[in-house]
Amino acid sequence: MCGIVGFTGREQAAPILLECLKKLEYRGYDSAGIAVRDSSLPVVIEKTTGKLKALSDRTHGGKALKGMSGIGHTRWATHGAPSVQNAHPHVSGGVRSTVTGVHNGIIENYAELKQKLTDNGYEFYSETDTEVLIKLVDYYYRKYRIGPIDAINRTMVRVKGSYAVALMFDDYPEEIYAARNDSPLVIGTTQDSSFLASDVSAILSRTRSFYYLGNLQAARLKKGKVEFFNLNGDRISIRKKTVDWETDSAEKHGYEHFMLKEIHEQPDVIRRMLDRYIEDEGICICDDQLDESFFQDLKQIIIVACGSAWHAGVAAQYMTEAVTDVPVRVELASEFRYRSMYACKECLFIVISQSGETADSLAALRKAKSLGIRTLAIVNVNGSSIANEADHVILTLAGPEISVATTKAYSAQLIALYLLVIQMAFIRGNLDAVMYSQMIGELKELPDKISSILSDKEKYQRLATVFSSRQDMFFIGRNMDYAICLEGSLKMKEISYIHSEAYAAGELKHGTISLIEDGTVVVGVITCPHIADKTLSNMIECKSRGARLITVTDLEDKGIESVCDYMIKIPSVNGLFMASLAVVPLQLLSYYTSLSRGLDVDKPRNLAKSVTVE
Ligand code: F6R
Repeated sequence: MCGIVGFTGREQAAPILLECLKKLEYRGYDSAGIAVRDSSLPVVIEKTTGKLKALSDRTHGGKALKGMSGIGHTRWATHGAPSVQNAHPHVSGGVRSTVTGVHNGIIENYAELKQKLTDNGYEFYSETDTEVLIKLVDYYYRKYRIGPIDAINRTMVRVKGSYAVALMFDDYPEEIYAARNDSPLVIGTTQDSSFLASDVSAILSRTRSFYYLGNLQAARLKKGKVEFFNLNGDRISIRKKTVDWETDSAEKHGYEHFMLKEIHEQPDVIRRMLDRYIEDEGICICDDQLDESFFQDLKQIIIVACGSAWHAGVAAQYMTEAVTDVPVRVELASEFRYRSMYACKECLFIVISQSGETADSLAALRKAKSLGIRTLAIVNVNGSSIANEADHVILTLAGPEISVATTKAYSAQLIALYLLVIQMAFIRGNLDAVMYSQMIGELKELPDKISSILSDKEKYQRLATVFSSRQDMFFIGRNMDYAICLEGSLKMKEISYIHSEAYAAGELKHGTISLIEDGTVVVGVITCPHIADKTLSNMIECKSRGARLITVTDLEDKGIESVCDYMIKIPSVNGLFMASLAVVPLQLLSYYTSLSRGLDVDKPRNLAKSVTVE
């Protein structure tokens, strides 16, 4: 998704803007641009299509552009093709260009607003909704001869949709203005500089003090000083937050890609989670309001998320239904937000999100709240919209995740869910004290077991070379193994571009098996002992139609080895926690497959790290 940055201070802005935009590259983009301003001179704008390097080369790393305040943007095209014309920053233009701006989000009523502005003499040079937004600010600013904050507020009242916007007004040199509704925006300050960005990682190397602008709020950034306003134009205060993420945790540390680094961070992330949420051998994950009586009375859980976070939810569903008597529904956020459903009062709505900004997940959370359901967010980014709006929050402590394909955040989500389910089962009397302690003990073994899988990476490199030229892959399993397949298959397709699907193994015969032909790769995950034979026989059915079989298993003596072409042996663990182990070989397999196909592992085509538009 688009990324925005802004800076005003006592250094040259352009190199800083480029540095910050570089940190937002992972969000995905197809063009980029910056605008800088030297107080006495007009705004200077540079834009390019393609990678940021092109923009950097063109401006000699930003040194060619003079000015100590500026804004920047990486664009992921929504309205209008990727082109220099459509790239941001956009300007109000006309006789005197008063406003320059960058925007992340979607203005839903842009066509109607464009017409209104056209009727008032504005001309448009791009196909973007952003140009409409900037010109609308300009329109109010000129028509009512009001200050920037009032013009922004009038615009916010008029536009529908999501936006995080950074603006420069010609009449207010050295100041940057910002506003947001539903798209992420964070503002940071140091003694003599102010920054803004779409997320913390972009400016983490510059400051640790952040303000999260709320919906329909605006900000004025001066050098080292920031003021906040509500929709009436009244000054408001926003609490400063300090982020404790390591400054260098958004660096590669010698790994070729962020994805590989993040895969290797998983043992540490899990240890951190367990250290934080287990005290004196008991789980402390709930707060004062999400207490024992709430869990005792609980009648239903609804888990809502998108993509991999949804897969973590599917794993949690199998687990919860195995150890508690609470029914669980797992819904895709994009479906949940528009469907009608009954939810009882004694229901817990759980939204899972790494970024905390996914538009569909946020909308689903708001819907659950409007239905009067108690909400819990399992989220990685503290201060994100989802973290701010949910009734309760469990932070996943994975640190910044840069690779578009999630690995460590997914693993951390699983841990949060395990802890929650174990605690709930204990409170409800579904688990006794011995089983409770035993499970906590087993969780603590996970990091070392994952490390042992990670130490054998040559195996995955070899396998990836064998299979990287294939067109199709299927991932099959039953029960928890099916939940694992969902994630394994998504990892494979999103970064290797090999067509891949996950199927509940028993479903194959109901249609999919007709796709199996000579050389099709079928990855079977077989870790649930009671149904291992069944999945294995589904794999044999595929083999007899020409499939090449890879199996991920912890089981001995099931005759798996003699059937499969390649076997990936993983350590055993309580089956409820198996997703944490079995997903690791699948992550590595995807990584090395993408690598051997020569693809951009960390930034796969067409994808964005945080999907802040619908
Ligand atoms: C896949 C992936 C996505 C995200 C999904 C939800 O590797 O990362 O499927 O899981 O876009 O994002 P969050 O968790 O930020 O809500």
